Amino acid sequence: MKPIITLTMNPALDVSTSVDKVVSTHKLRCSGVRFDPGGGGVNVGRVIERLGGGAVTLYAVGGPMGEVYRGLLETELDGAQPIEIDGNTRQSFNVNEESTGKEYRFVLEGPKWQEKEWQGALDRVEETLSEGSYLVVSGSLPEGVPDDFTARVARLAKKKGARCVVDASGASLEAALDEGVFLVKPNKRELRDLTGEDLDSREEQEEAAKRILEDAGAQVVVLSLGGDGALFATTDEVFHLPAPEVEARSAVGAGDSFVAALVLRLADGGSLADAGRYAVAAGAAALLSEGTEMCRAEDVERLYRELLS
Ligand SMILES: Nc1ncnc2c1ncn2[C@@H]1O[C@H](COP(=O)(O)OP(=O)(O)OP(=O)(O)O)[C@@H](O)[C@H]1O
Ligand SMILES: [Mg+2]
Repeated sequence: MKPIITLTMNPALDVSTSVDKVVSTHKLRCSGVRFDPGGGGVNVGRVIERLGGGAVTLYAVGGPMGEVYRGLLETELDGAQPIEIDGNTRQSFNVNEESTGKEYRFVLEGPKWQEKEWQGALDRVEETLSEGSYLVVSGSLPEGVPDDFTARVARLAKKKGARCVVDASGASLEAALDEGVFLVKPNKRELRDLTGEDLDSREEQEEAAKRILEDAGAQVVVLSLGGDGALFATTDEVFHLPAPEVEARSAVGAGDSFVAALVLRLADGGSLADAGRYAVAAGAAALLSEGTEMCRAEDVERLYRELLS
């Protein structure tokens, strides 16, 4: 098994609760509250451990909210390694409206970073990477961190002989593709923003993926298509895997669960086709869990076995 490292620059403390109906003016008496340490790479690290693997999970943390975040994460995740910052870790507030089943998700502003802080984060990444390791960079970048930060991380990965996996959007994704990475996992909206095309047909989706491969933006392009599964492309093969049908409770965490399973299998020497099957199983499994809960291992294994049969 190759080592896996995940990097989360902008984690959020997820605060989740339920209320009968969301209305203005009145106090909304909520029932139940749950705190989860959220953020792209952190979620990937949590799912990898759940699936029996291990990852070094580098995450930025600071301030009083960061203390809470850290306490929650460290009890759950063996591989959690904080990158200390001056600012206060942000919060994300999720409300499940019971009368409609709708989810409302409020993302609060996060801390603004100083240059010395993000330079320090790059140093931490460099120290942690080793030849042949997988580095998953996932989630948004905080204010004050330059758009080419992920590209700088990708450059470090190349220098160290590591494989950089990017799950990002917008300018950060674009810069990473200019630098060149091992694998990118845009969803349809993220790839559409990048190419300016609607990507509704499979042909258009394949063309867009092939262009990234030709431009050497990535060696593997995985386009996730929500309930339509995912498209996998390398210079040797292009294939689509449909998503297992599940009764969706909450779509939160599908992308991160997908990436975790994909990278875990690849790091274990699995083929892209097999890692892809494991990934669509994990993405679908995430939908079976309530709220901010990630996928459960038993759901992933069951859905994966069904895909094999
Ligand atoms: N409705 C669904 N039914 C079955 N599987 C799903 C469904 N939605 C998502 N998935 C699985 O999860 C994967 C990732 O989902 P999606 O394409 O929505 O990623 P995303 O937009 O990056 O998600 P996120 O919002 O969590 O970042 C899909 O490729 C698919 O395998
Ligand atoms: Mg996503």
